[in-house]
Amino acid sequence: MFLLKAWRATAFGVYGYLNFTKNGFMEHSKKFRPEDMEISIEGKNCMVTGANSGIGYATAEGLASRGATVYMVCRNKEKGEAALSKIQSSTGNSNVHLEVCDLSSVSEIKSFATRFSSKDVPVHVLINNAGLLEQKRIITSEGYELNFAVNVLGTYAITESMLPLLEKAAPDARVITVSSGGMYTTPLTNDLQVEFSDENFDGVEQYARNKRVQVALTEKWAEMYKNKGIGFFSMHPGWAGTPGVANSLPSFEKKFSGKLRTSEEGADTVIWLALQPKEKLVSGAFYFDRAEAPKHLMFAGTRQSHTIIDSIMNTLHSMFTNV
Ligand SMILES: NC(=O)c1ccc[n+]([C@@H]2O[C@H](COP(=O)([O-])OP(=O)(O)OC[C@H]3O[C@@H](n4cnc5c(N)ncnc54)[C@H](OP(=O)(O)O)[C@@H]3O)[C@@H](O)[C@H]2O)c1
Repeated sequence: MFLLKAWRATAFGVYGYLNFTKNGFMEHSKKFRPEDMEISIEGKNCMVTGANSGIGYATAEGLASRGATVYMVCRNKEKGEAALSKIQSSTGNSNVHLEVCDLSSVSEIKSFATRFSSKDVPVHVLINNAGLLEQKRIITSEGYELNFAVNVLGTYAITESMLPLLEKAAPDARVITVSSGGMYTTPLTNDLQVEFSDENFDGVEQYARNKRVQVALTEKWAEMYKNKGIGFFSMHPGWAGTPGVANSLPSFEKKFSGKLRTSEEGADTVIWLALQPKEKLVSGAFYFDRAEAPKHLMFAGTRQSHTIIDSIMNTLHSMFTNV
């Protein structure tokens, strides 16, 4: 097991250094087609979680600049309002709205969903971007470990809650979940939050596990809703120098100073996935730099683990319905 973990970490480090940095983006962007991004999405409703900062902010701004009606879901009203007015003035699009919701709480997500659903608007694009890497073991008021609560349960709860509004936008509806290349370092595990005690809590490992769940959930949702006209995509933004990275991984940020992508470069594939005709995309797939990417690194022994996604879905469903 030690050797396998060491191999995964090494393979991830090398693959990441070659692909996830700014240089990787520059190299991959030589194949990008500018016309892919020159698409107006006026009349489409896009919901972006964690839209006040980093990749989420750049995504909301990129969609607003292409005419979308954007709903920014943020946990902090003041930060959300500041980001909203910046986006409205930089894009000239007044159809940008703020929705306040703390995604670490299932009950808040449910109240938000009830409130939002009363607008009765179709949701064409849901972007599950909000996320965090918390190094300390923090337990939410609902009793869940914080990384898990936001990255996994929050993603699950908001997606399930928005399904009726996504169905209204079918066959054009899509859900894009911002996962992370960090998921390459770990298989899918049923042990979502209990293995770590306070002393040996490893936030980086927990985050990687969360991000693996997002990729497997996306695969499962794609299969479950394939006849409903909703596409599901997960993606990796690369390594971008965002407030989140500065906060959670200061030594990584220092080590890669000058080599990290901008938030806009991190948001590039999110926006690309929102704009492309669905026939061009593969529902359930994992994307990186405007192309389908592998979900597993070679010899990492993670592939078979996705077979347990049904039991994880059941666990998440109980957590969601029990609140
Ligand atoms: N940057 C990278 O290199 C990188 C690499 C791989 C994956 N990602 C993923 O990209 C996504 C965006 O991250 P980022 O780097 O742009 O970080 P960021 O600047 O910290 O943005 C994260 C956003 O999520 C929000 N958020 C956190 N907890 C929340 C909660 N409980 N309820 C609602 N919103 C919450 C944050 O709100 P506050 O501002 O209020 O905290 C912020 O708006 C994350 O899912 C992250 O895992 C990033």
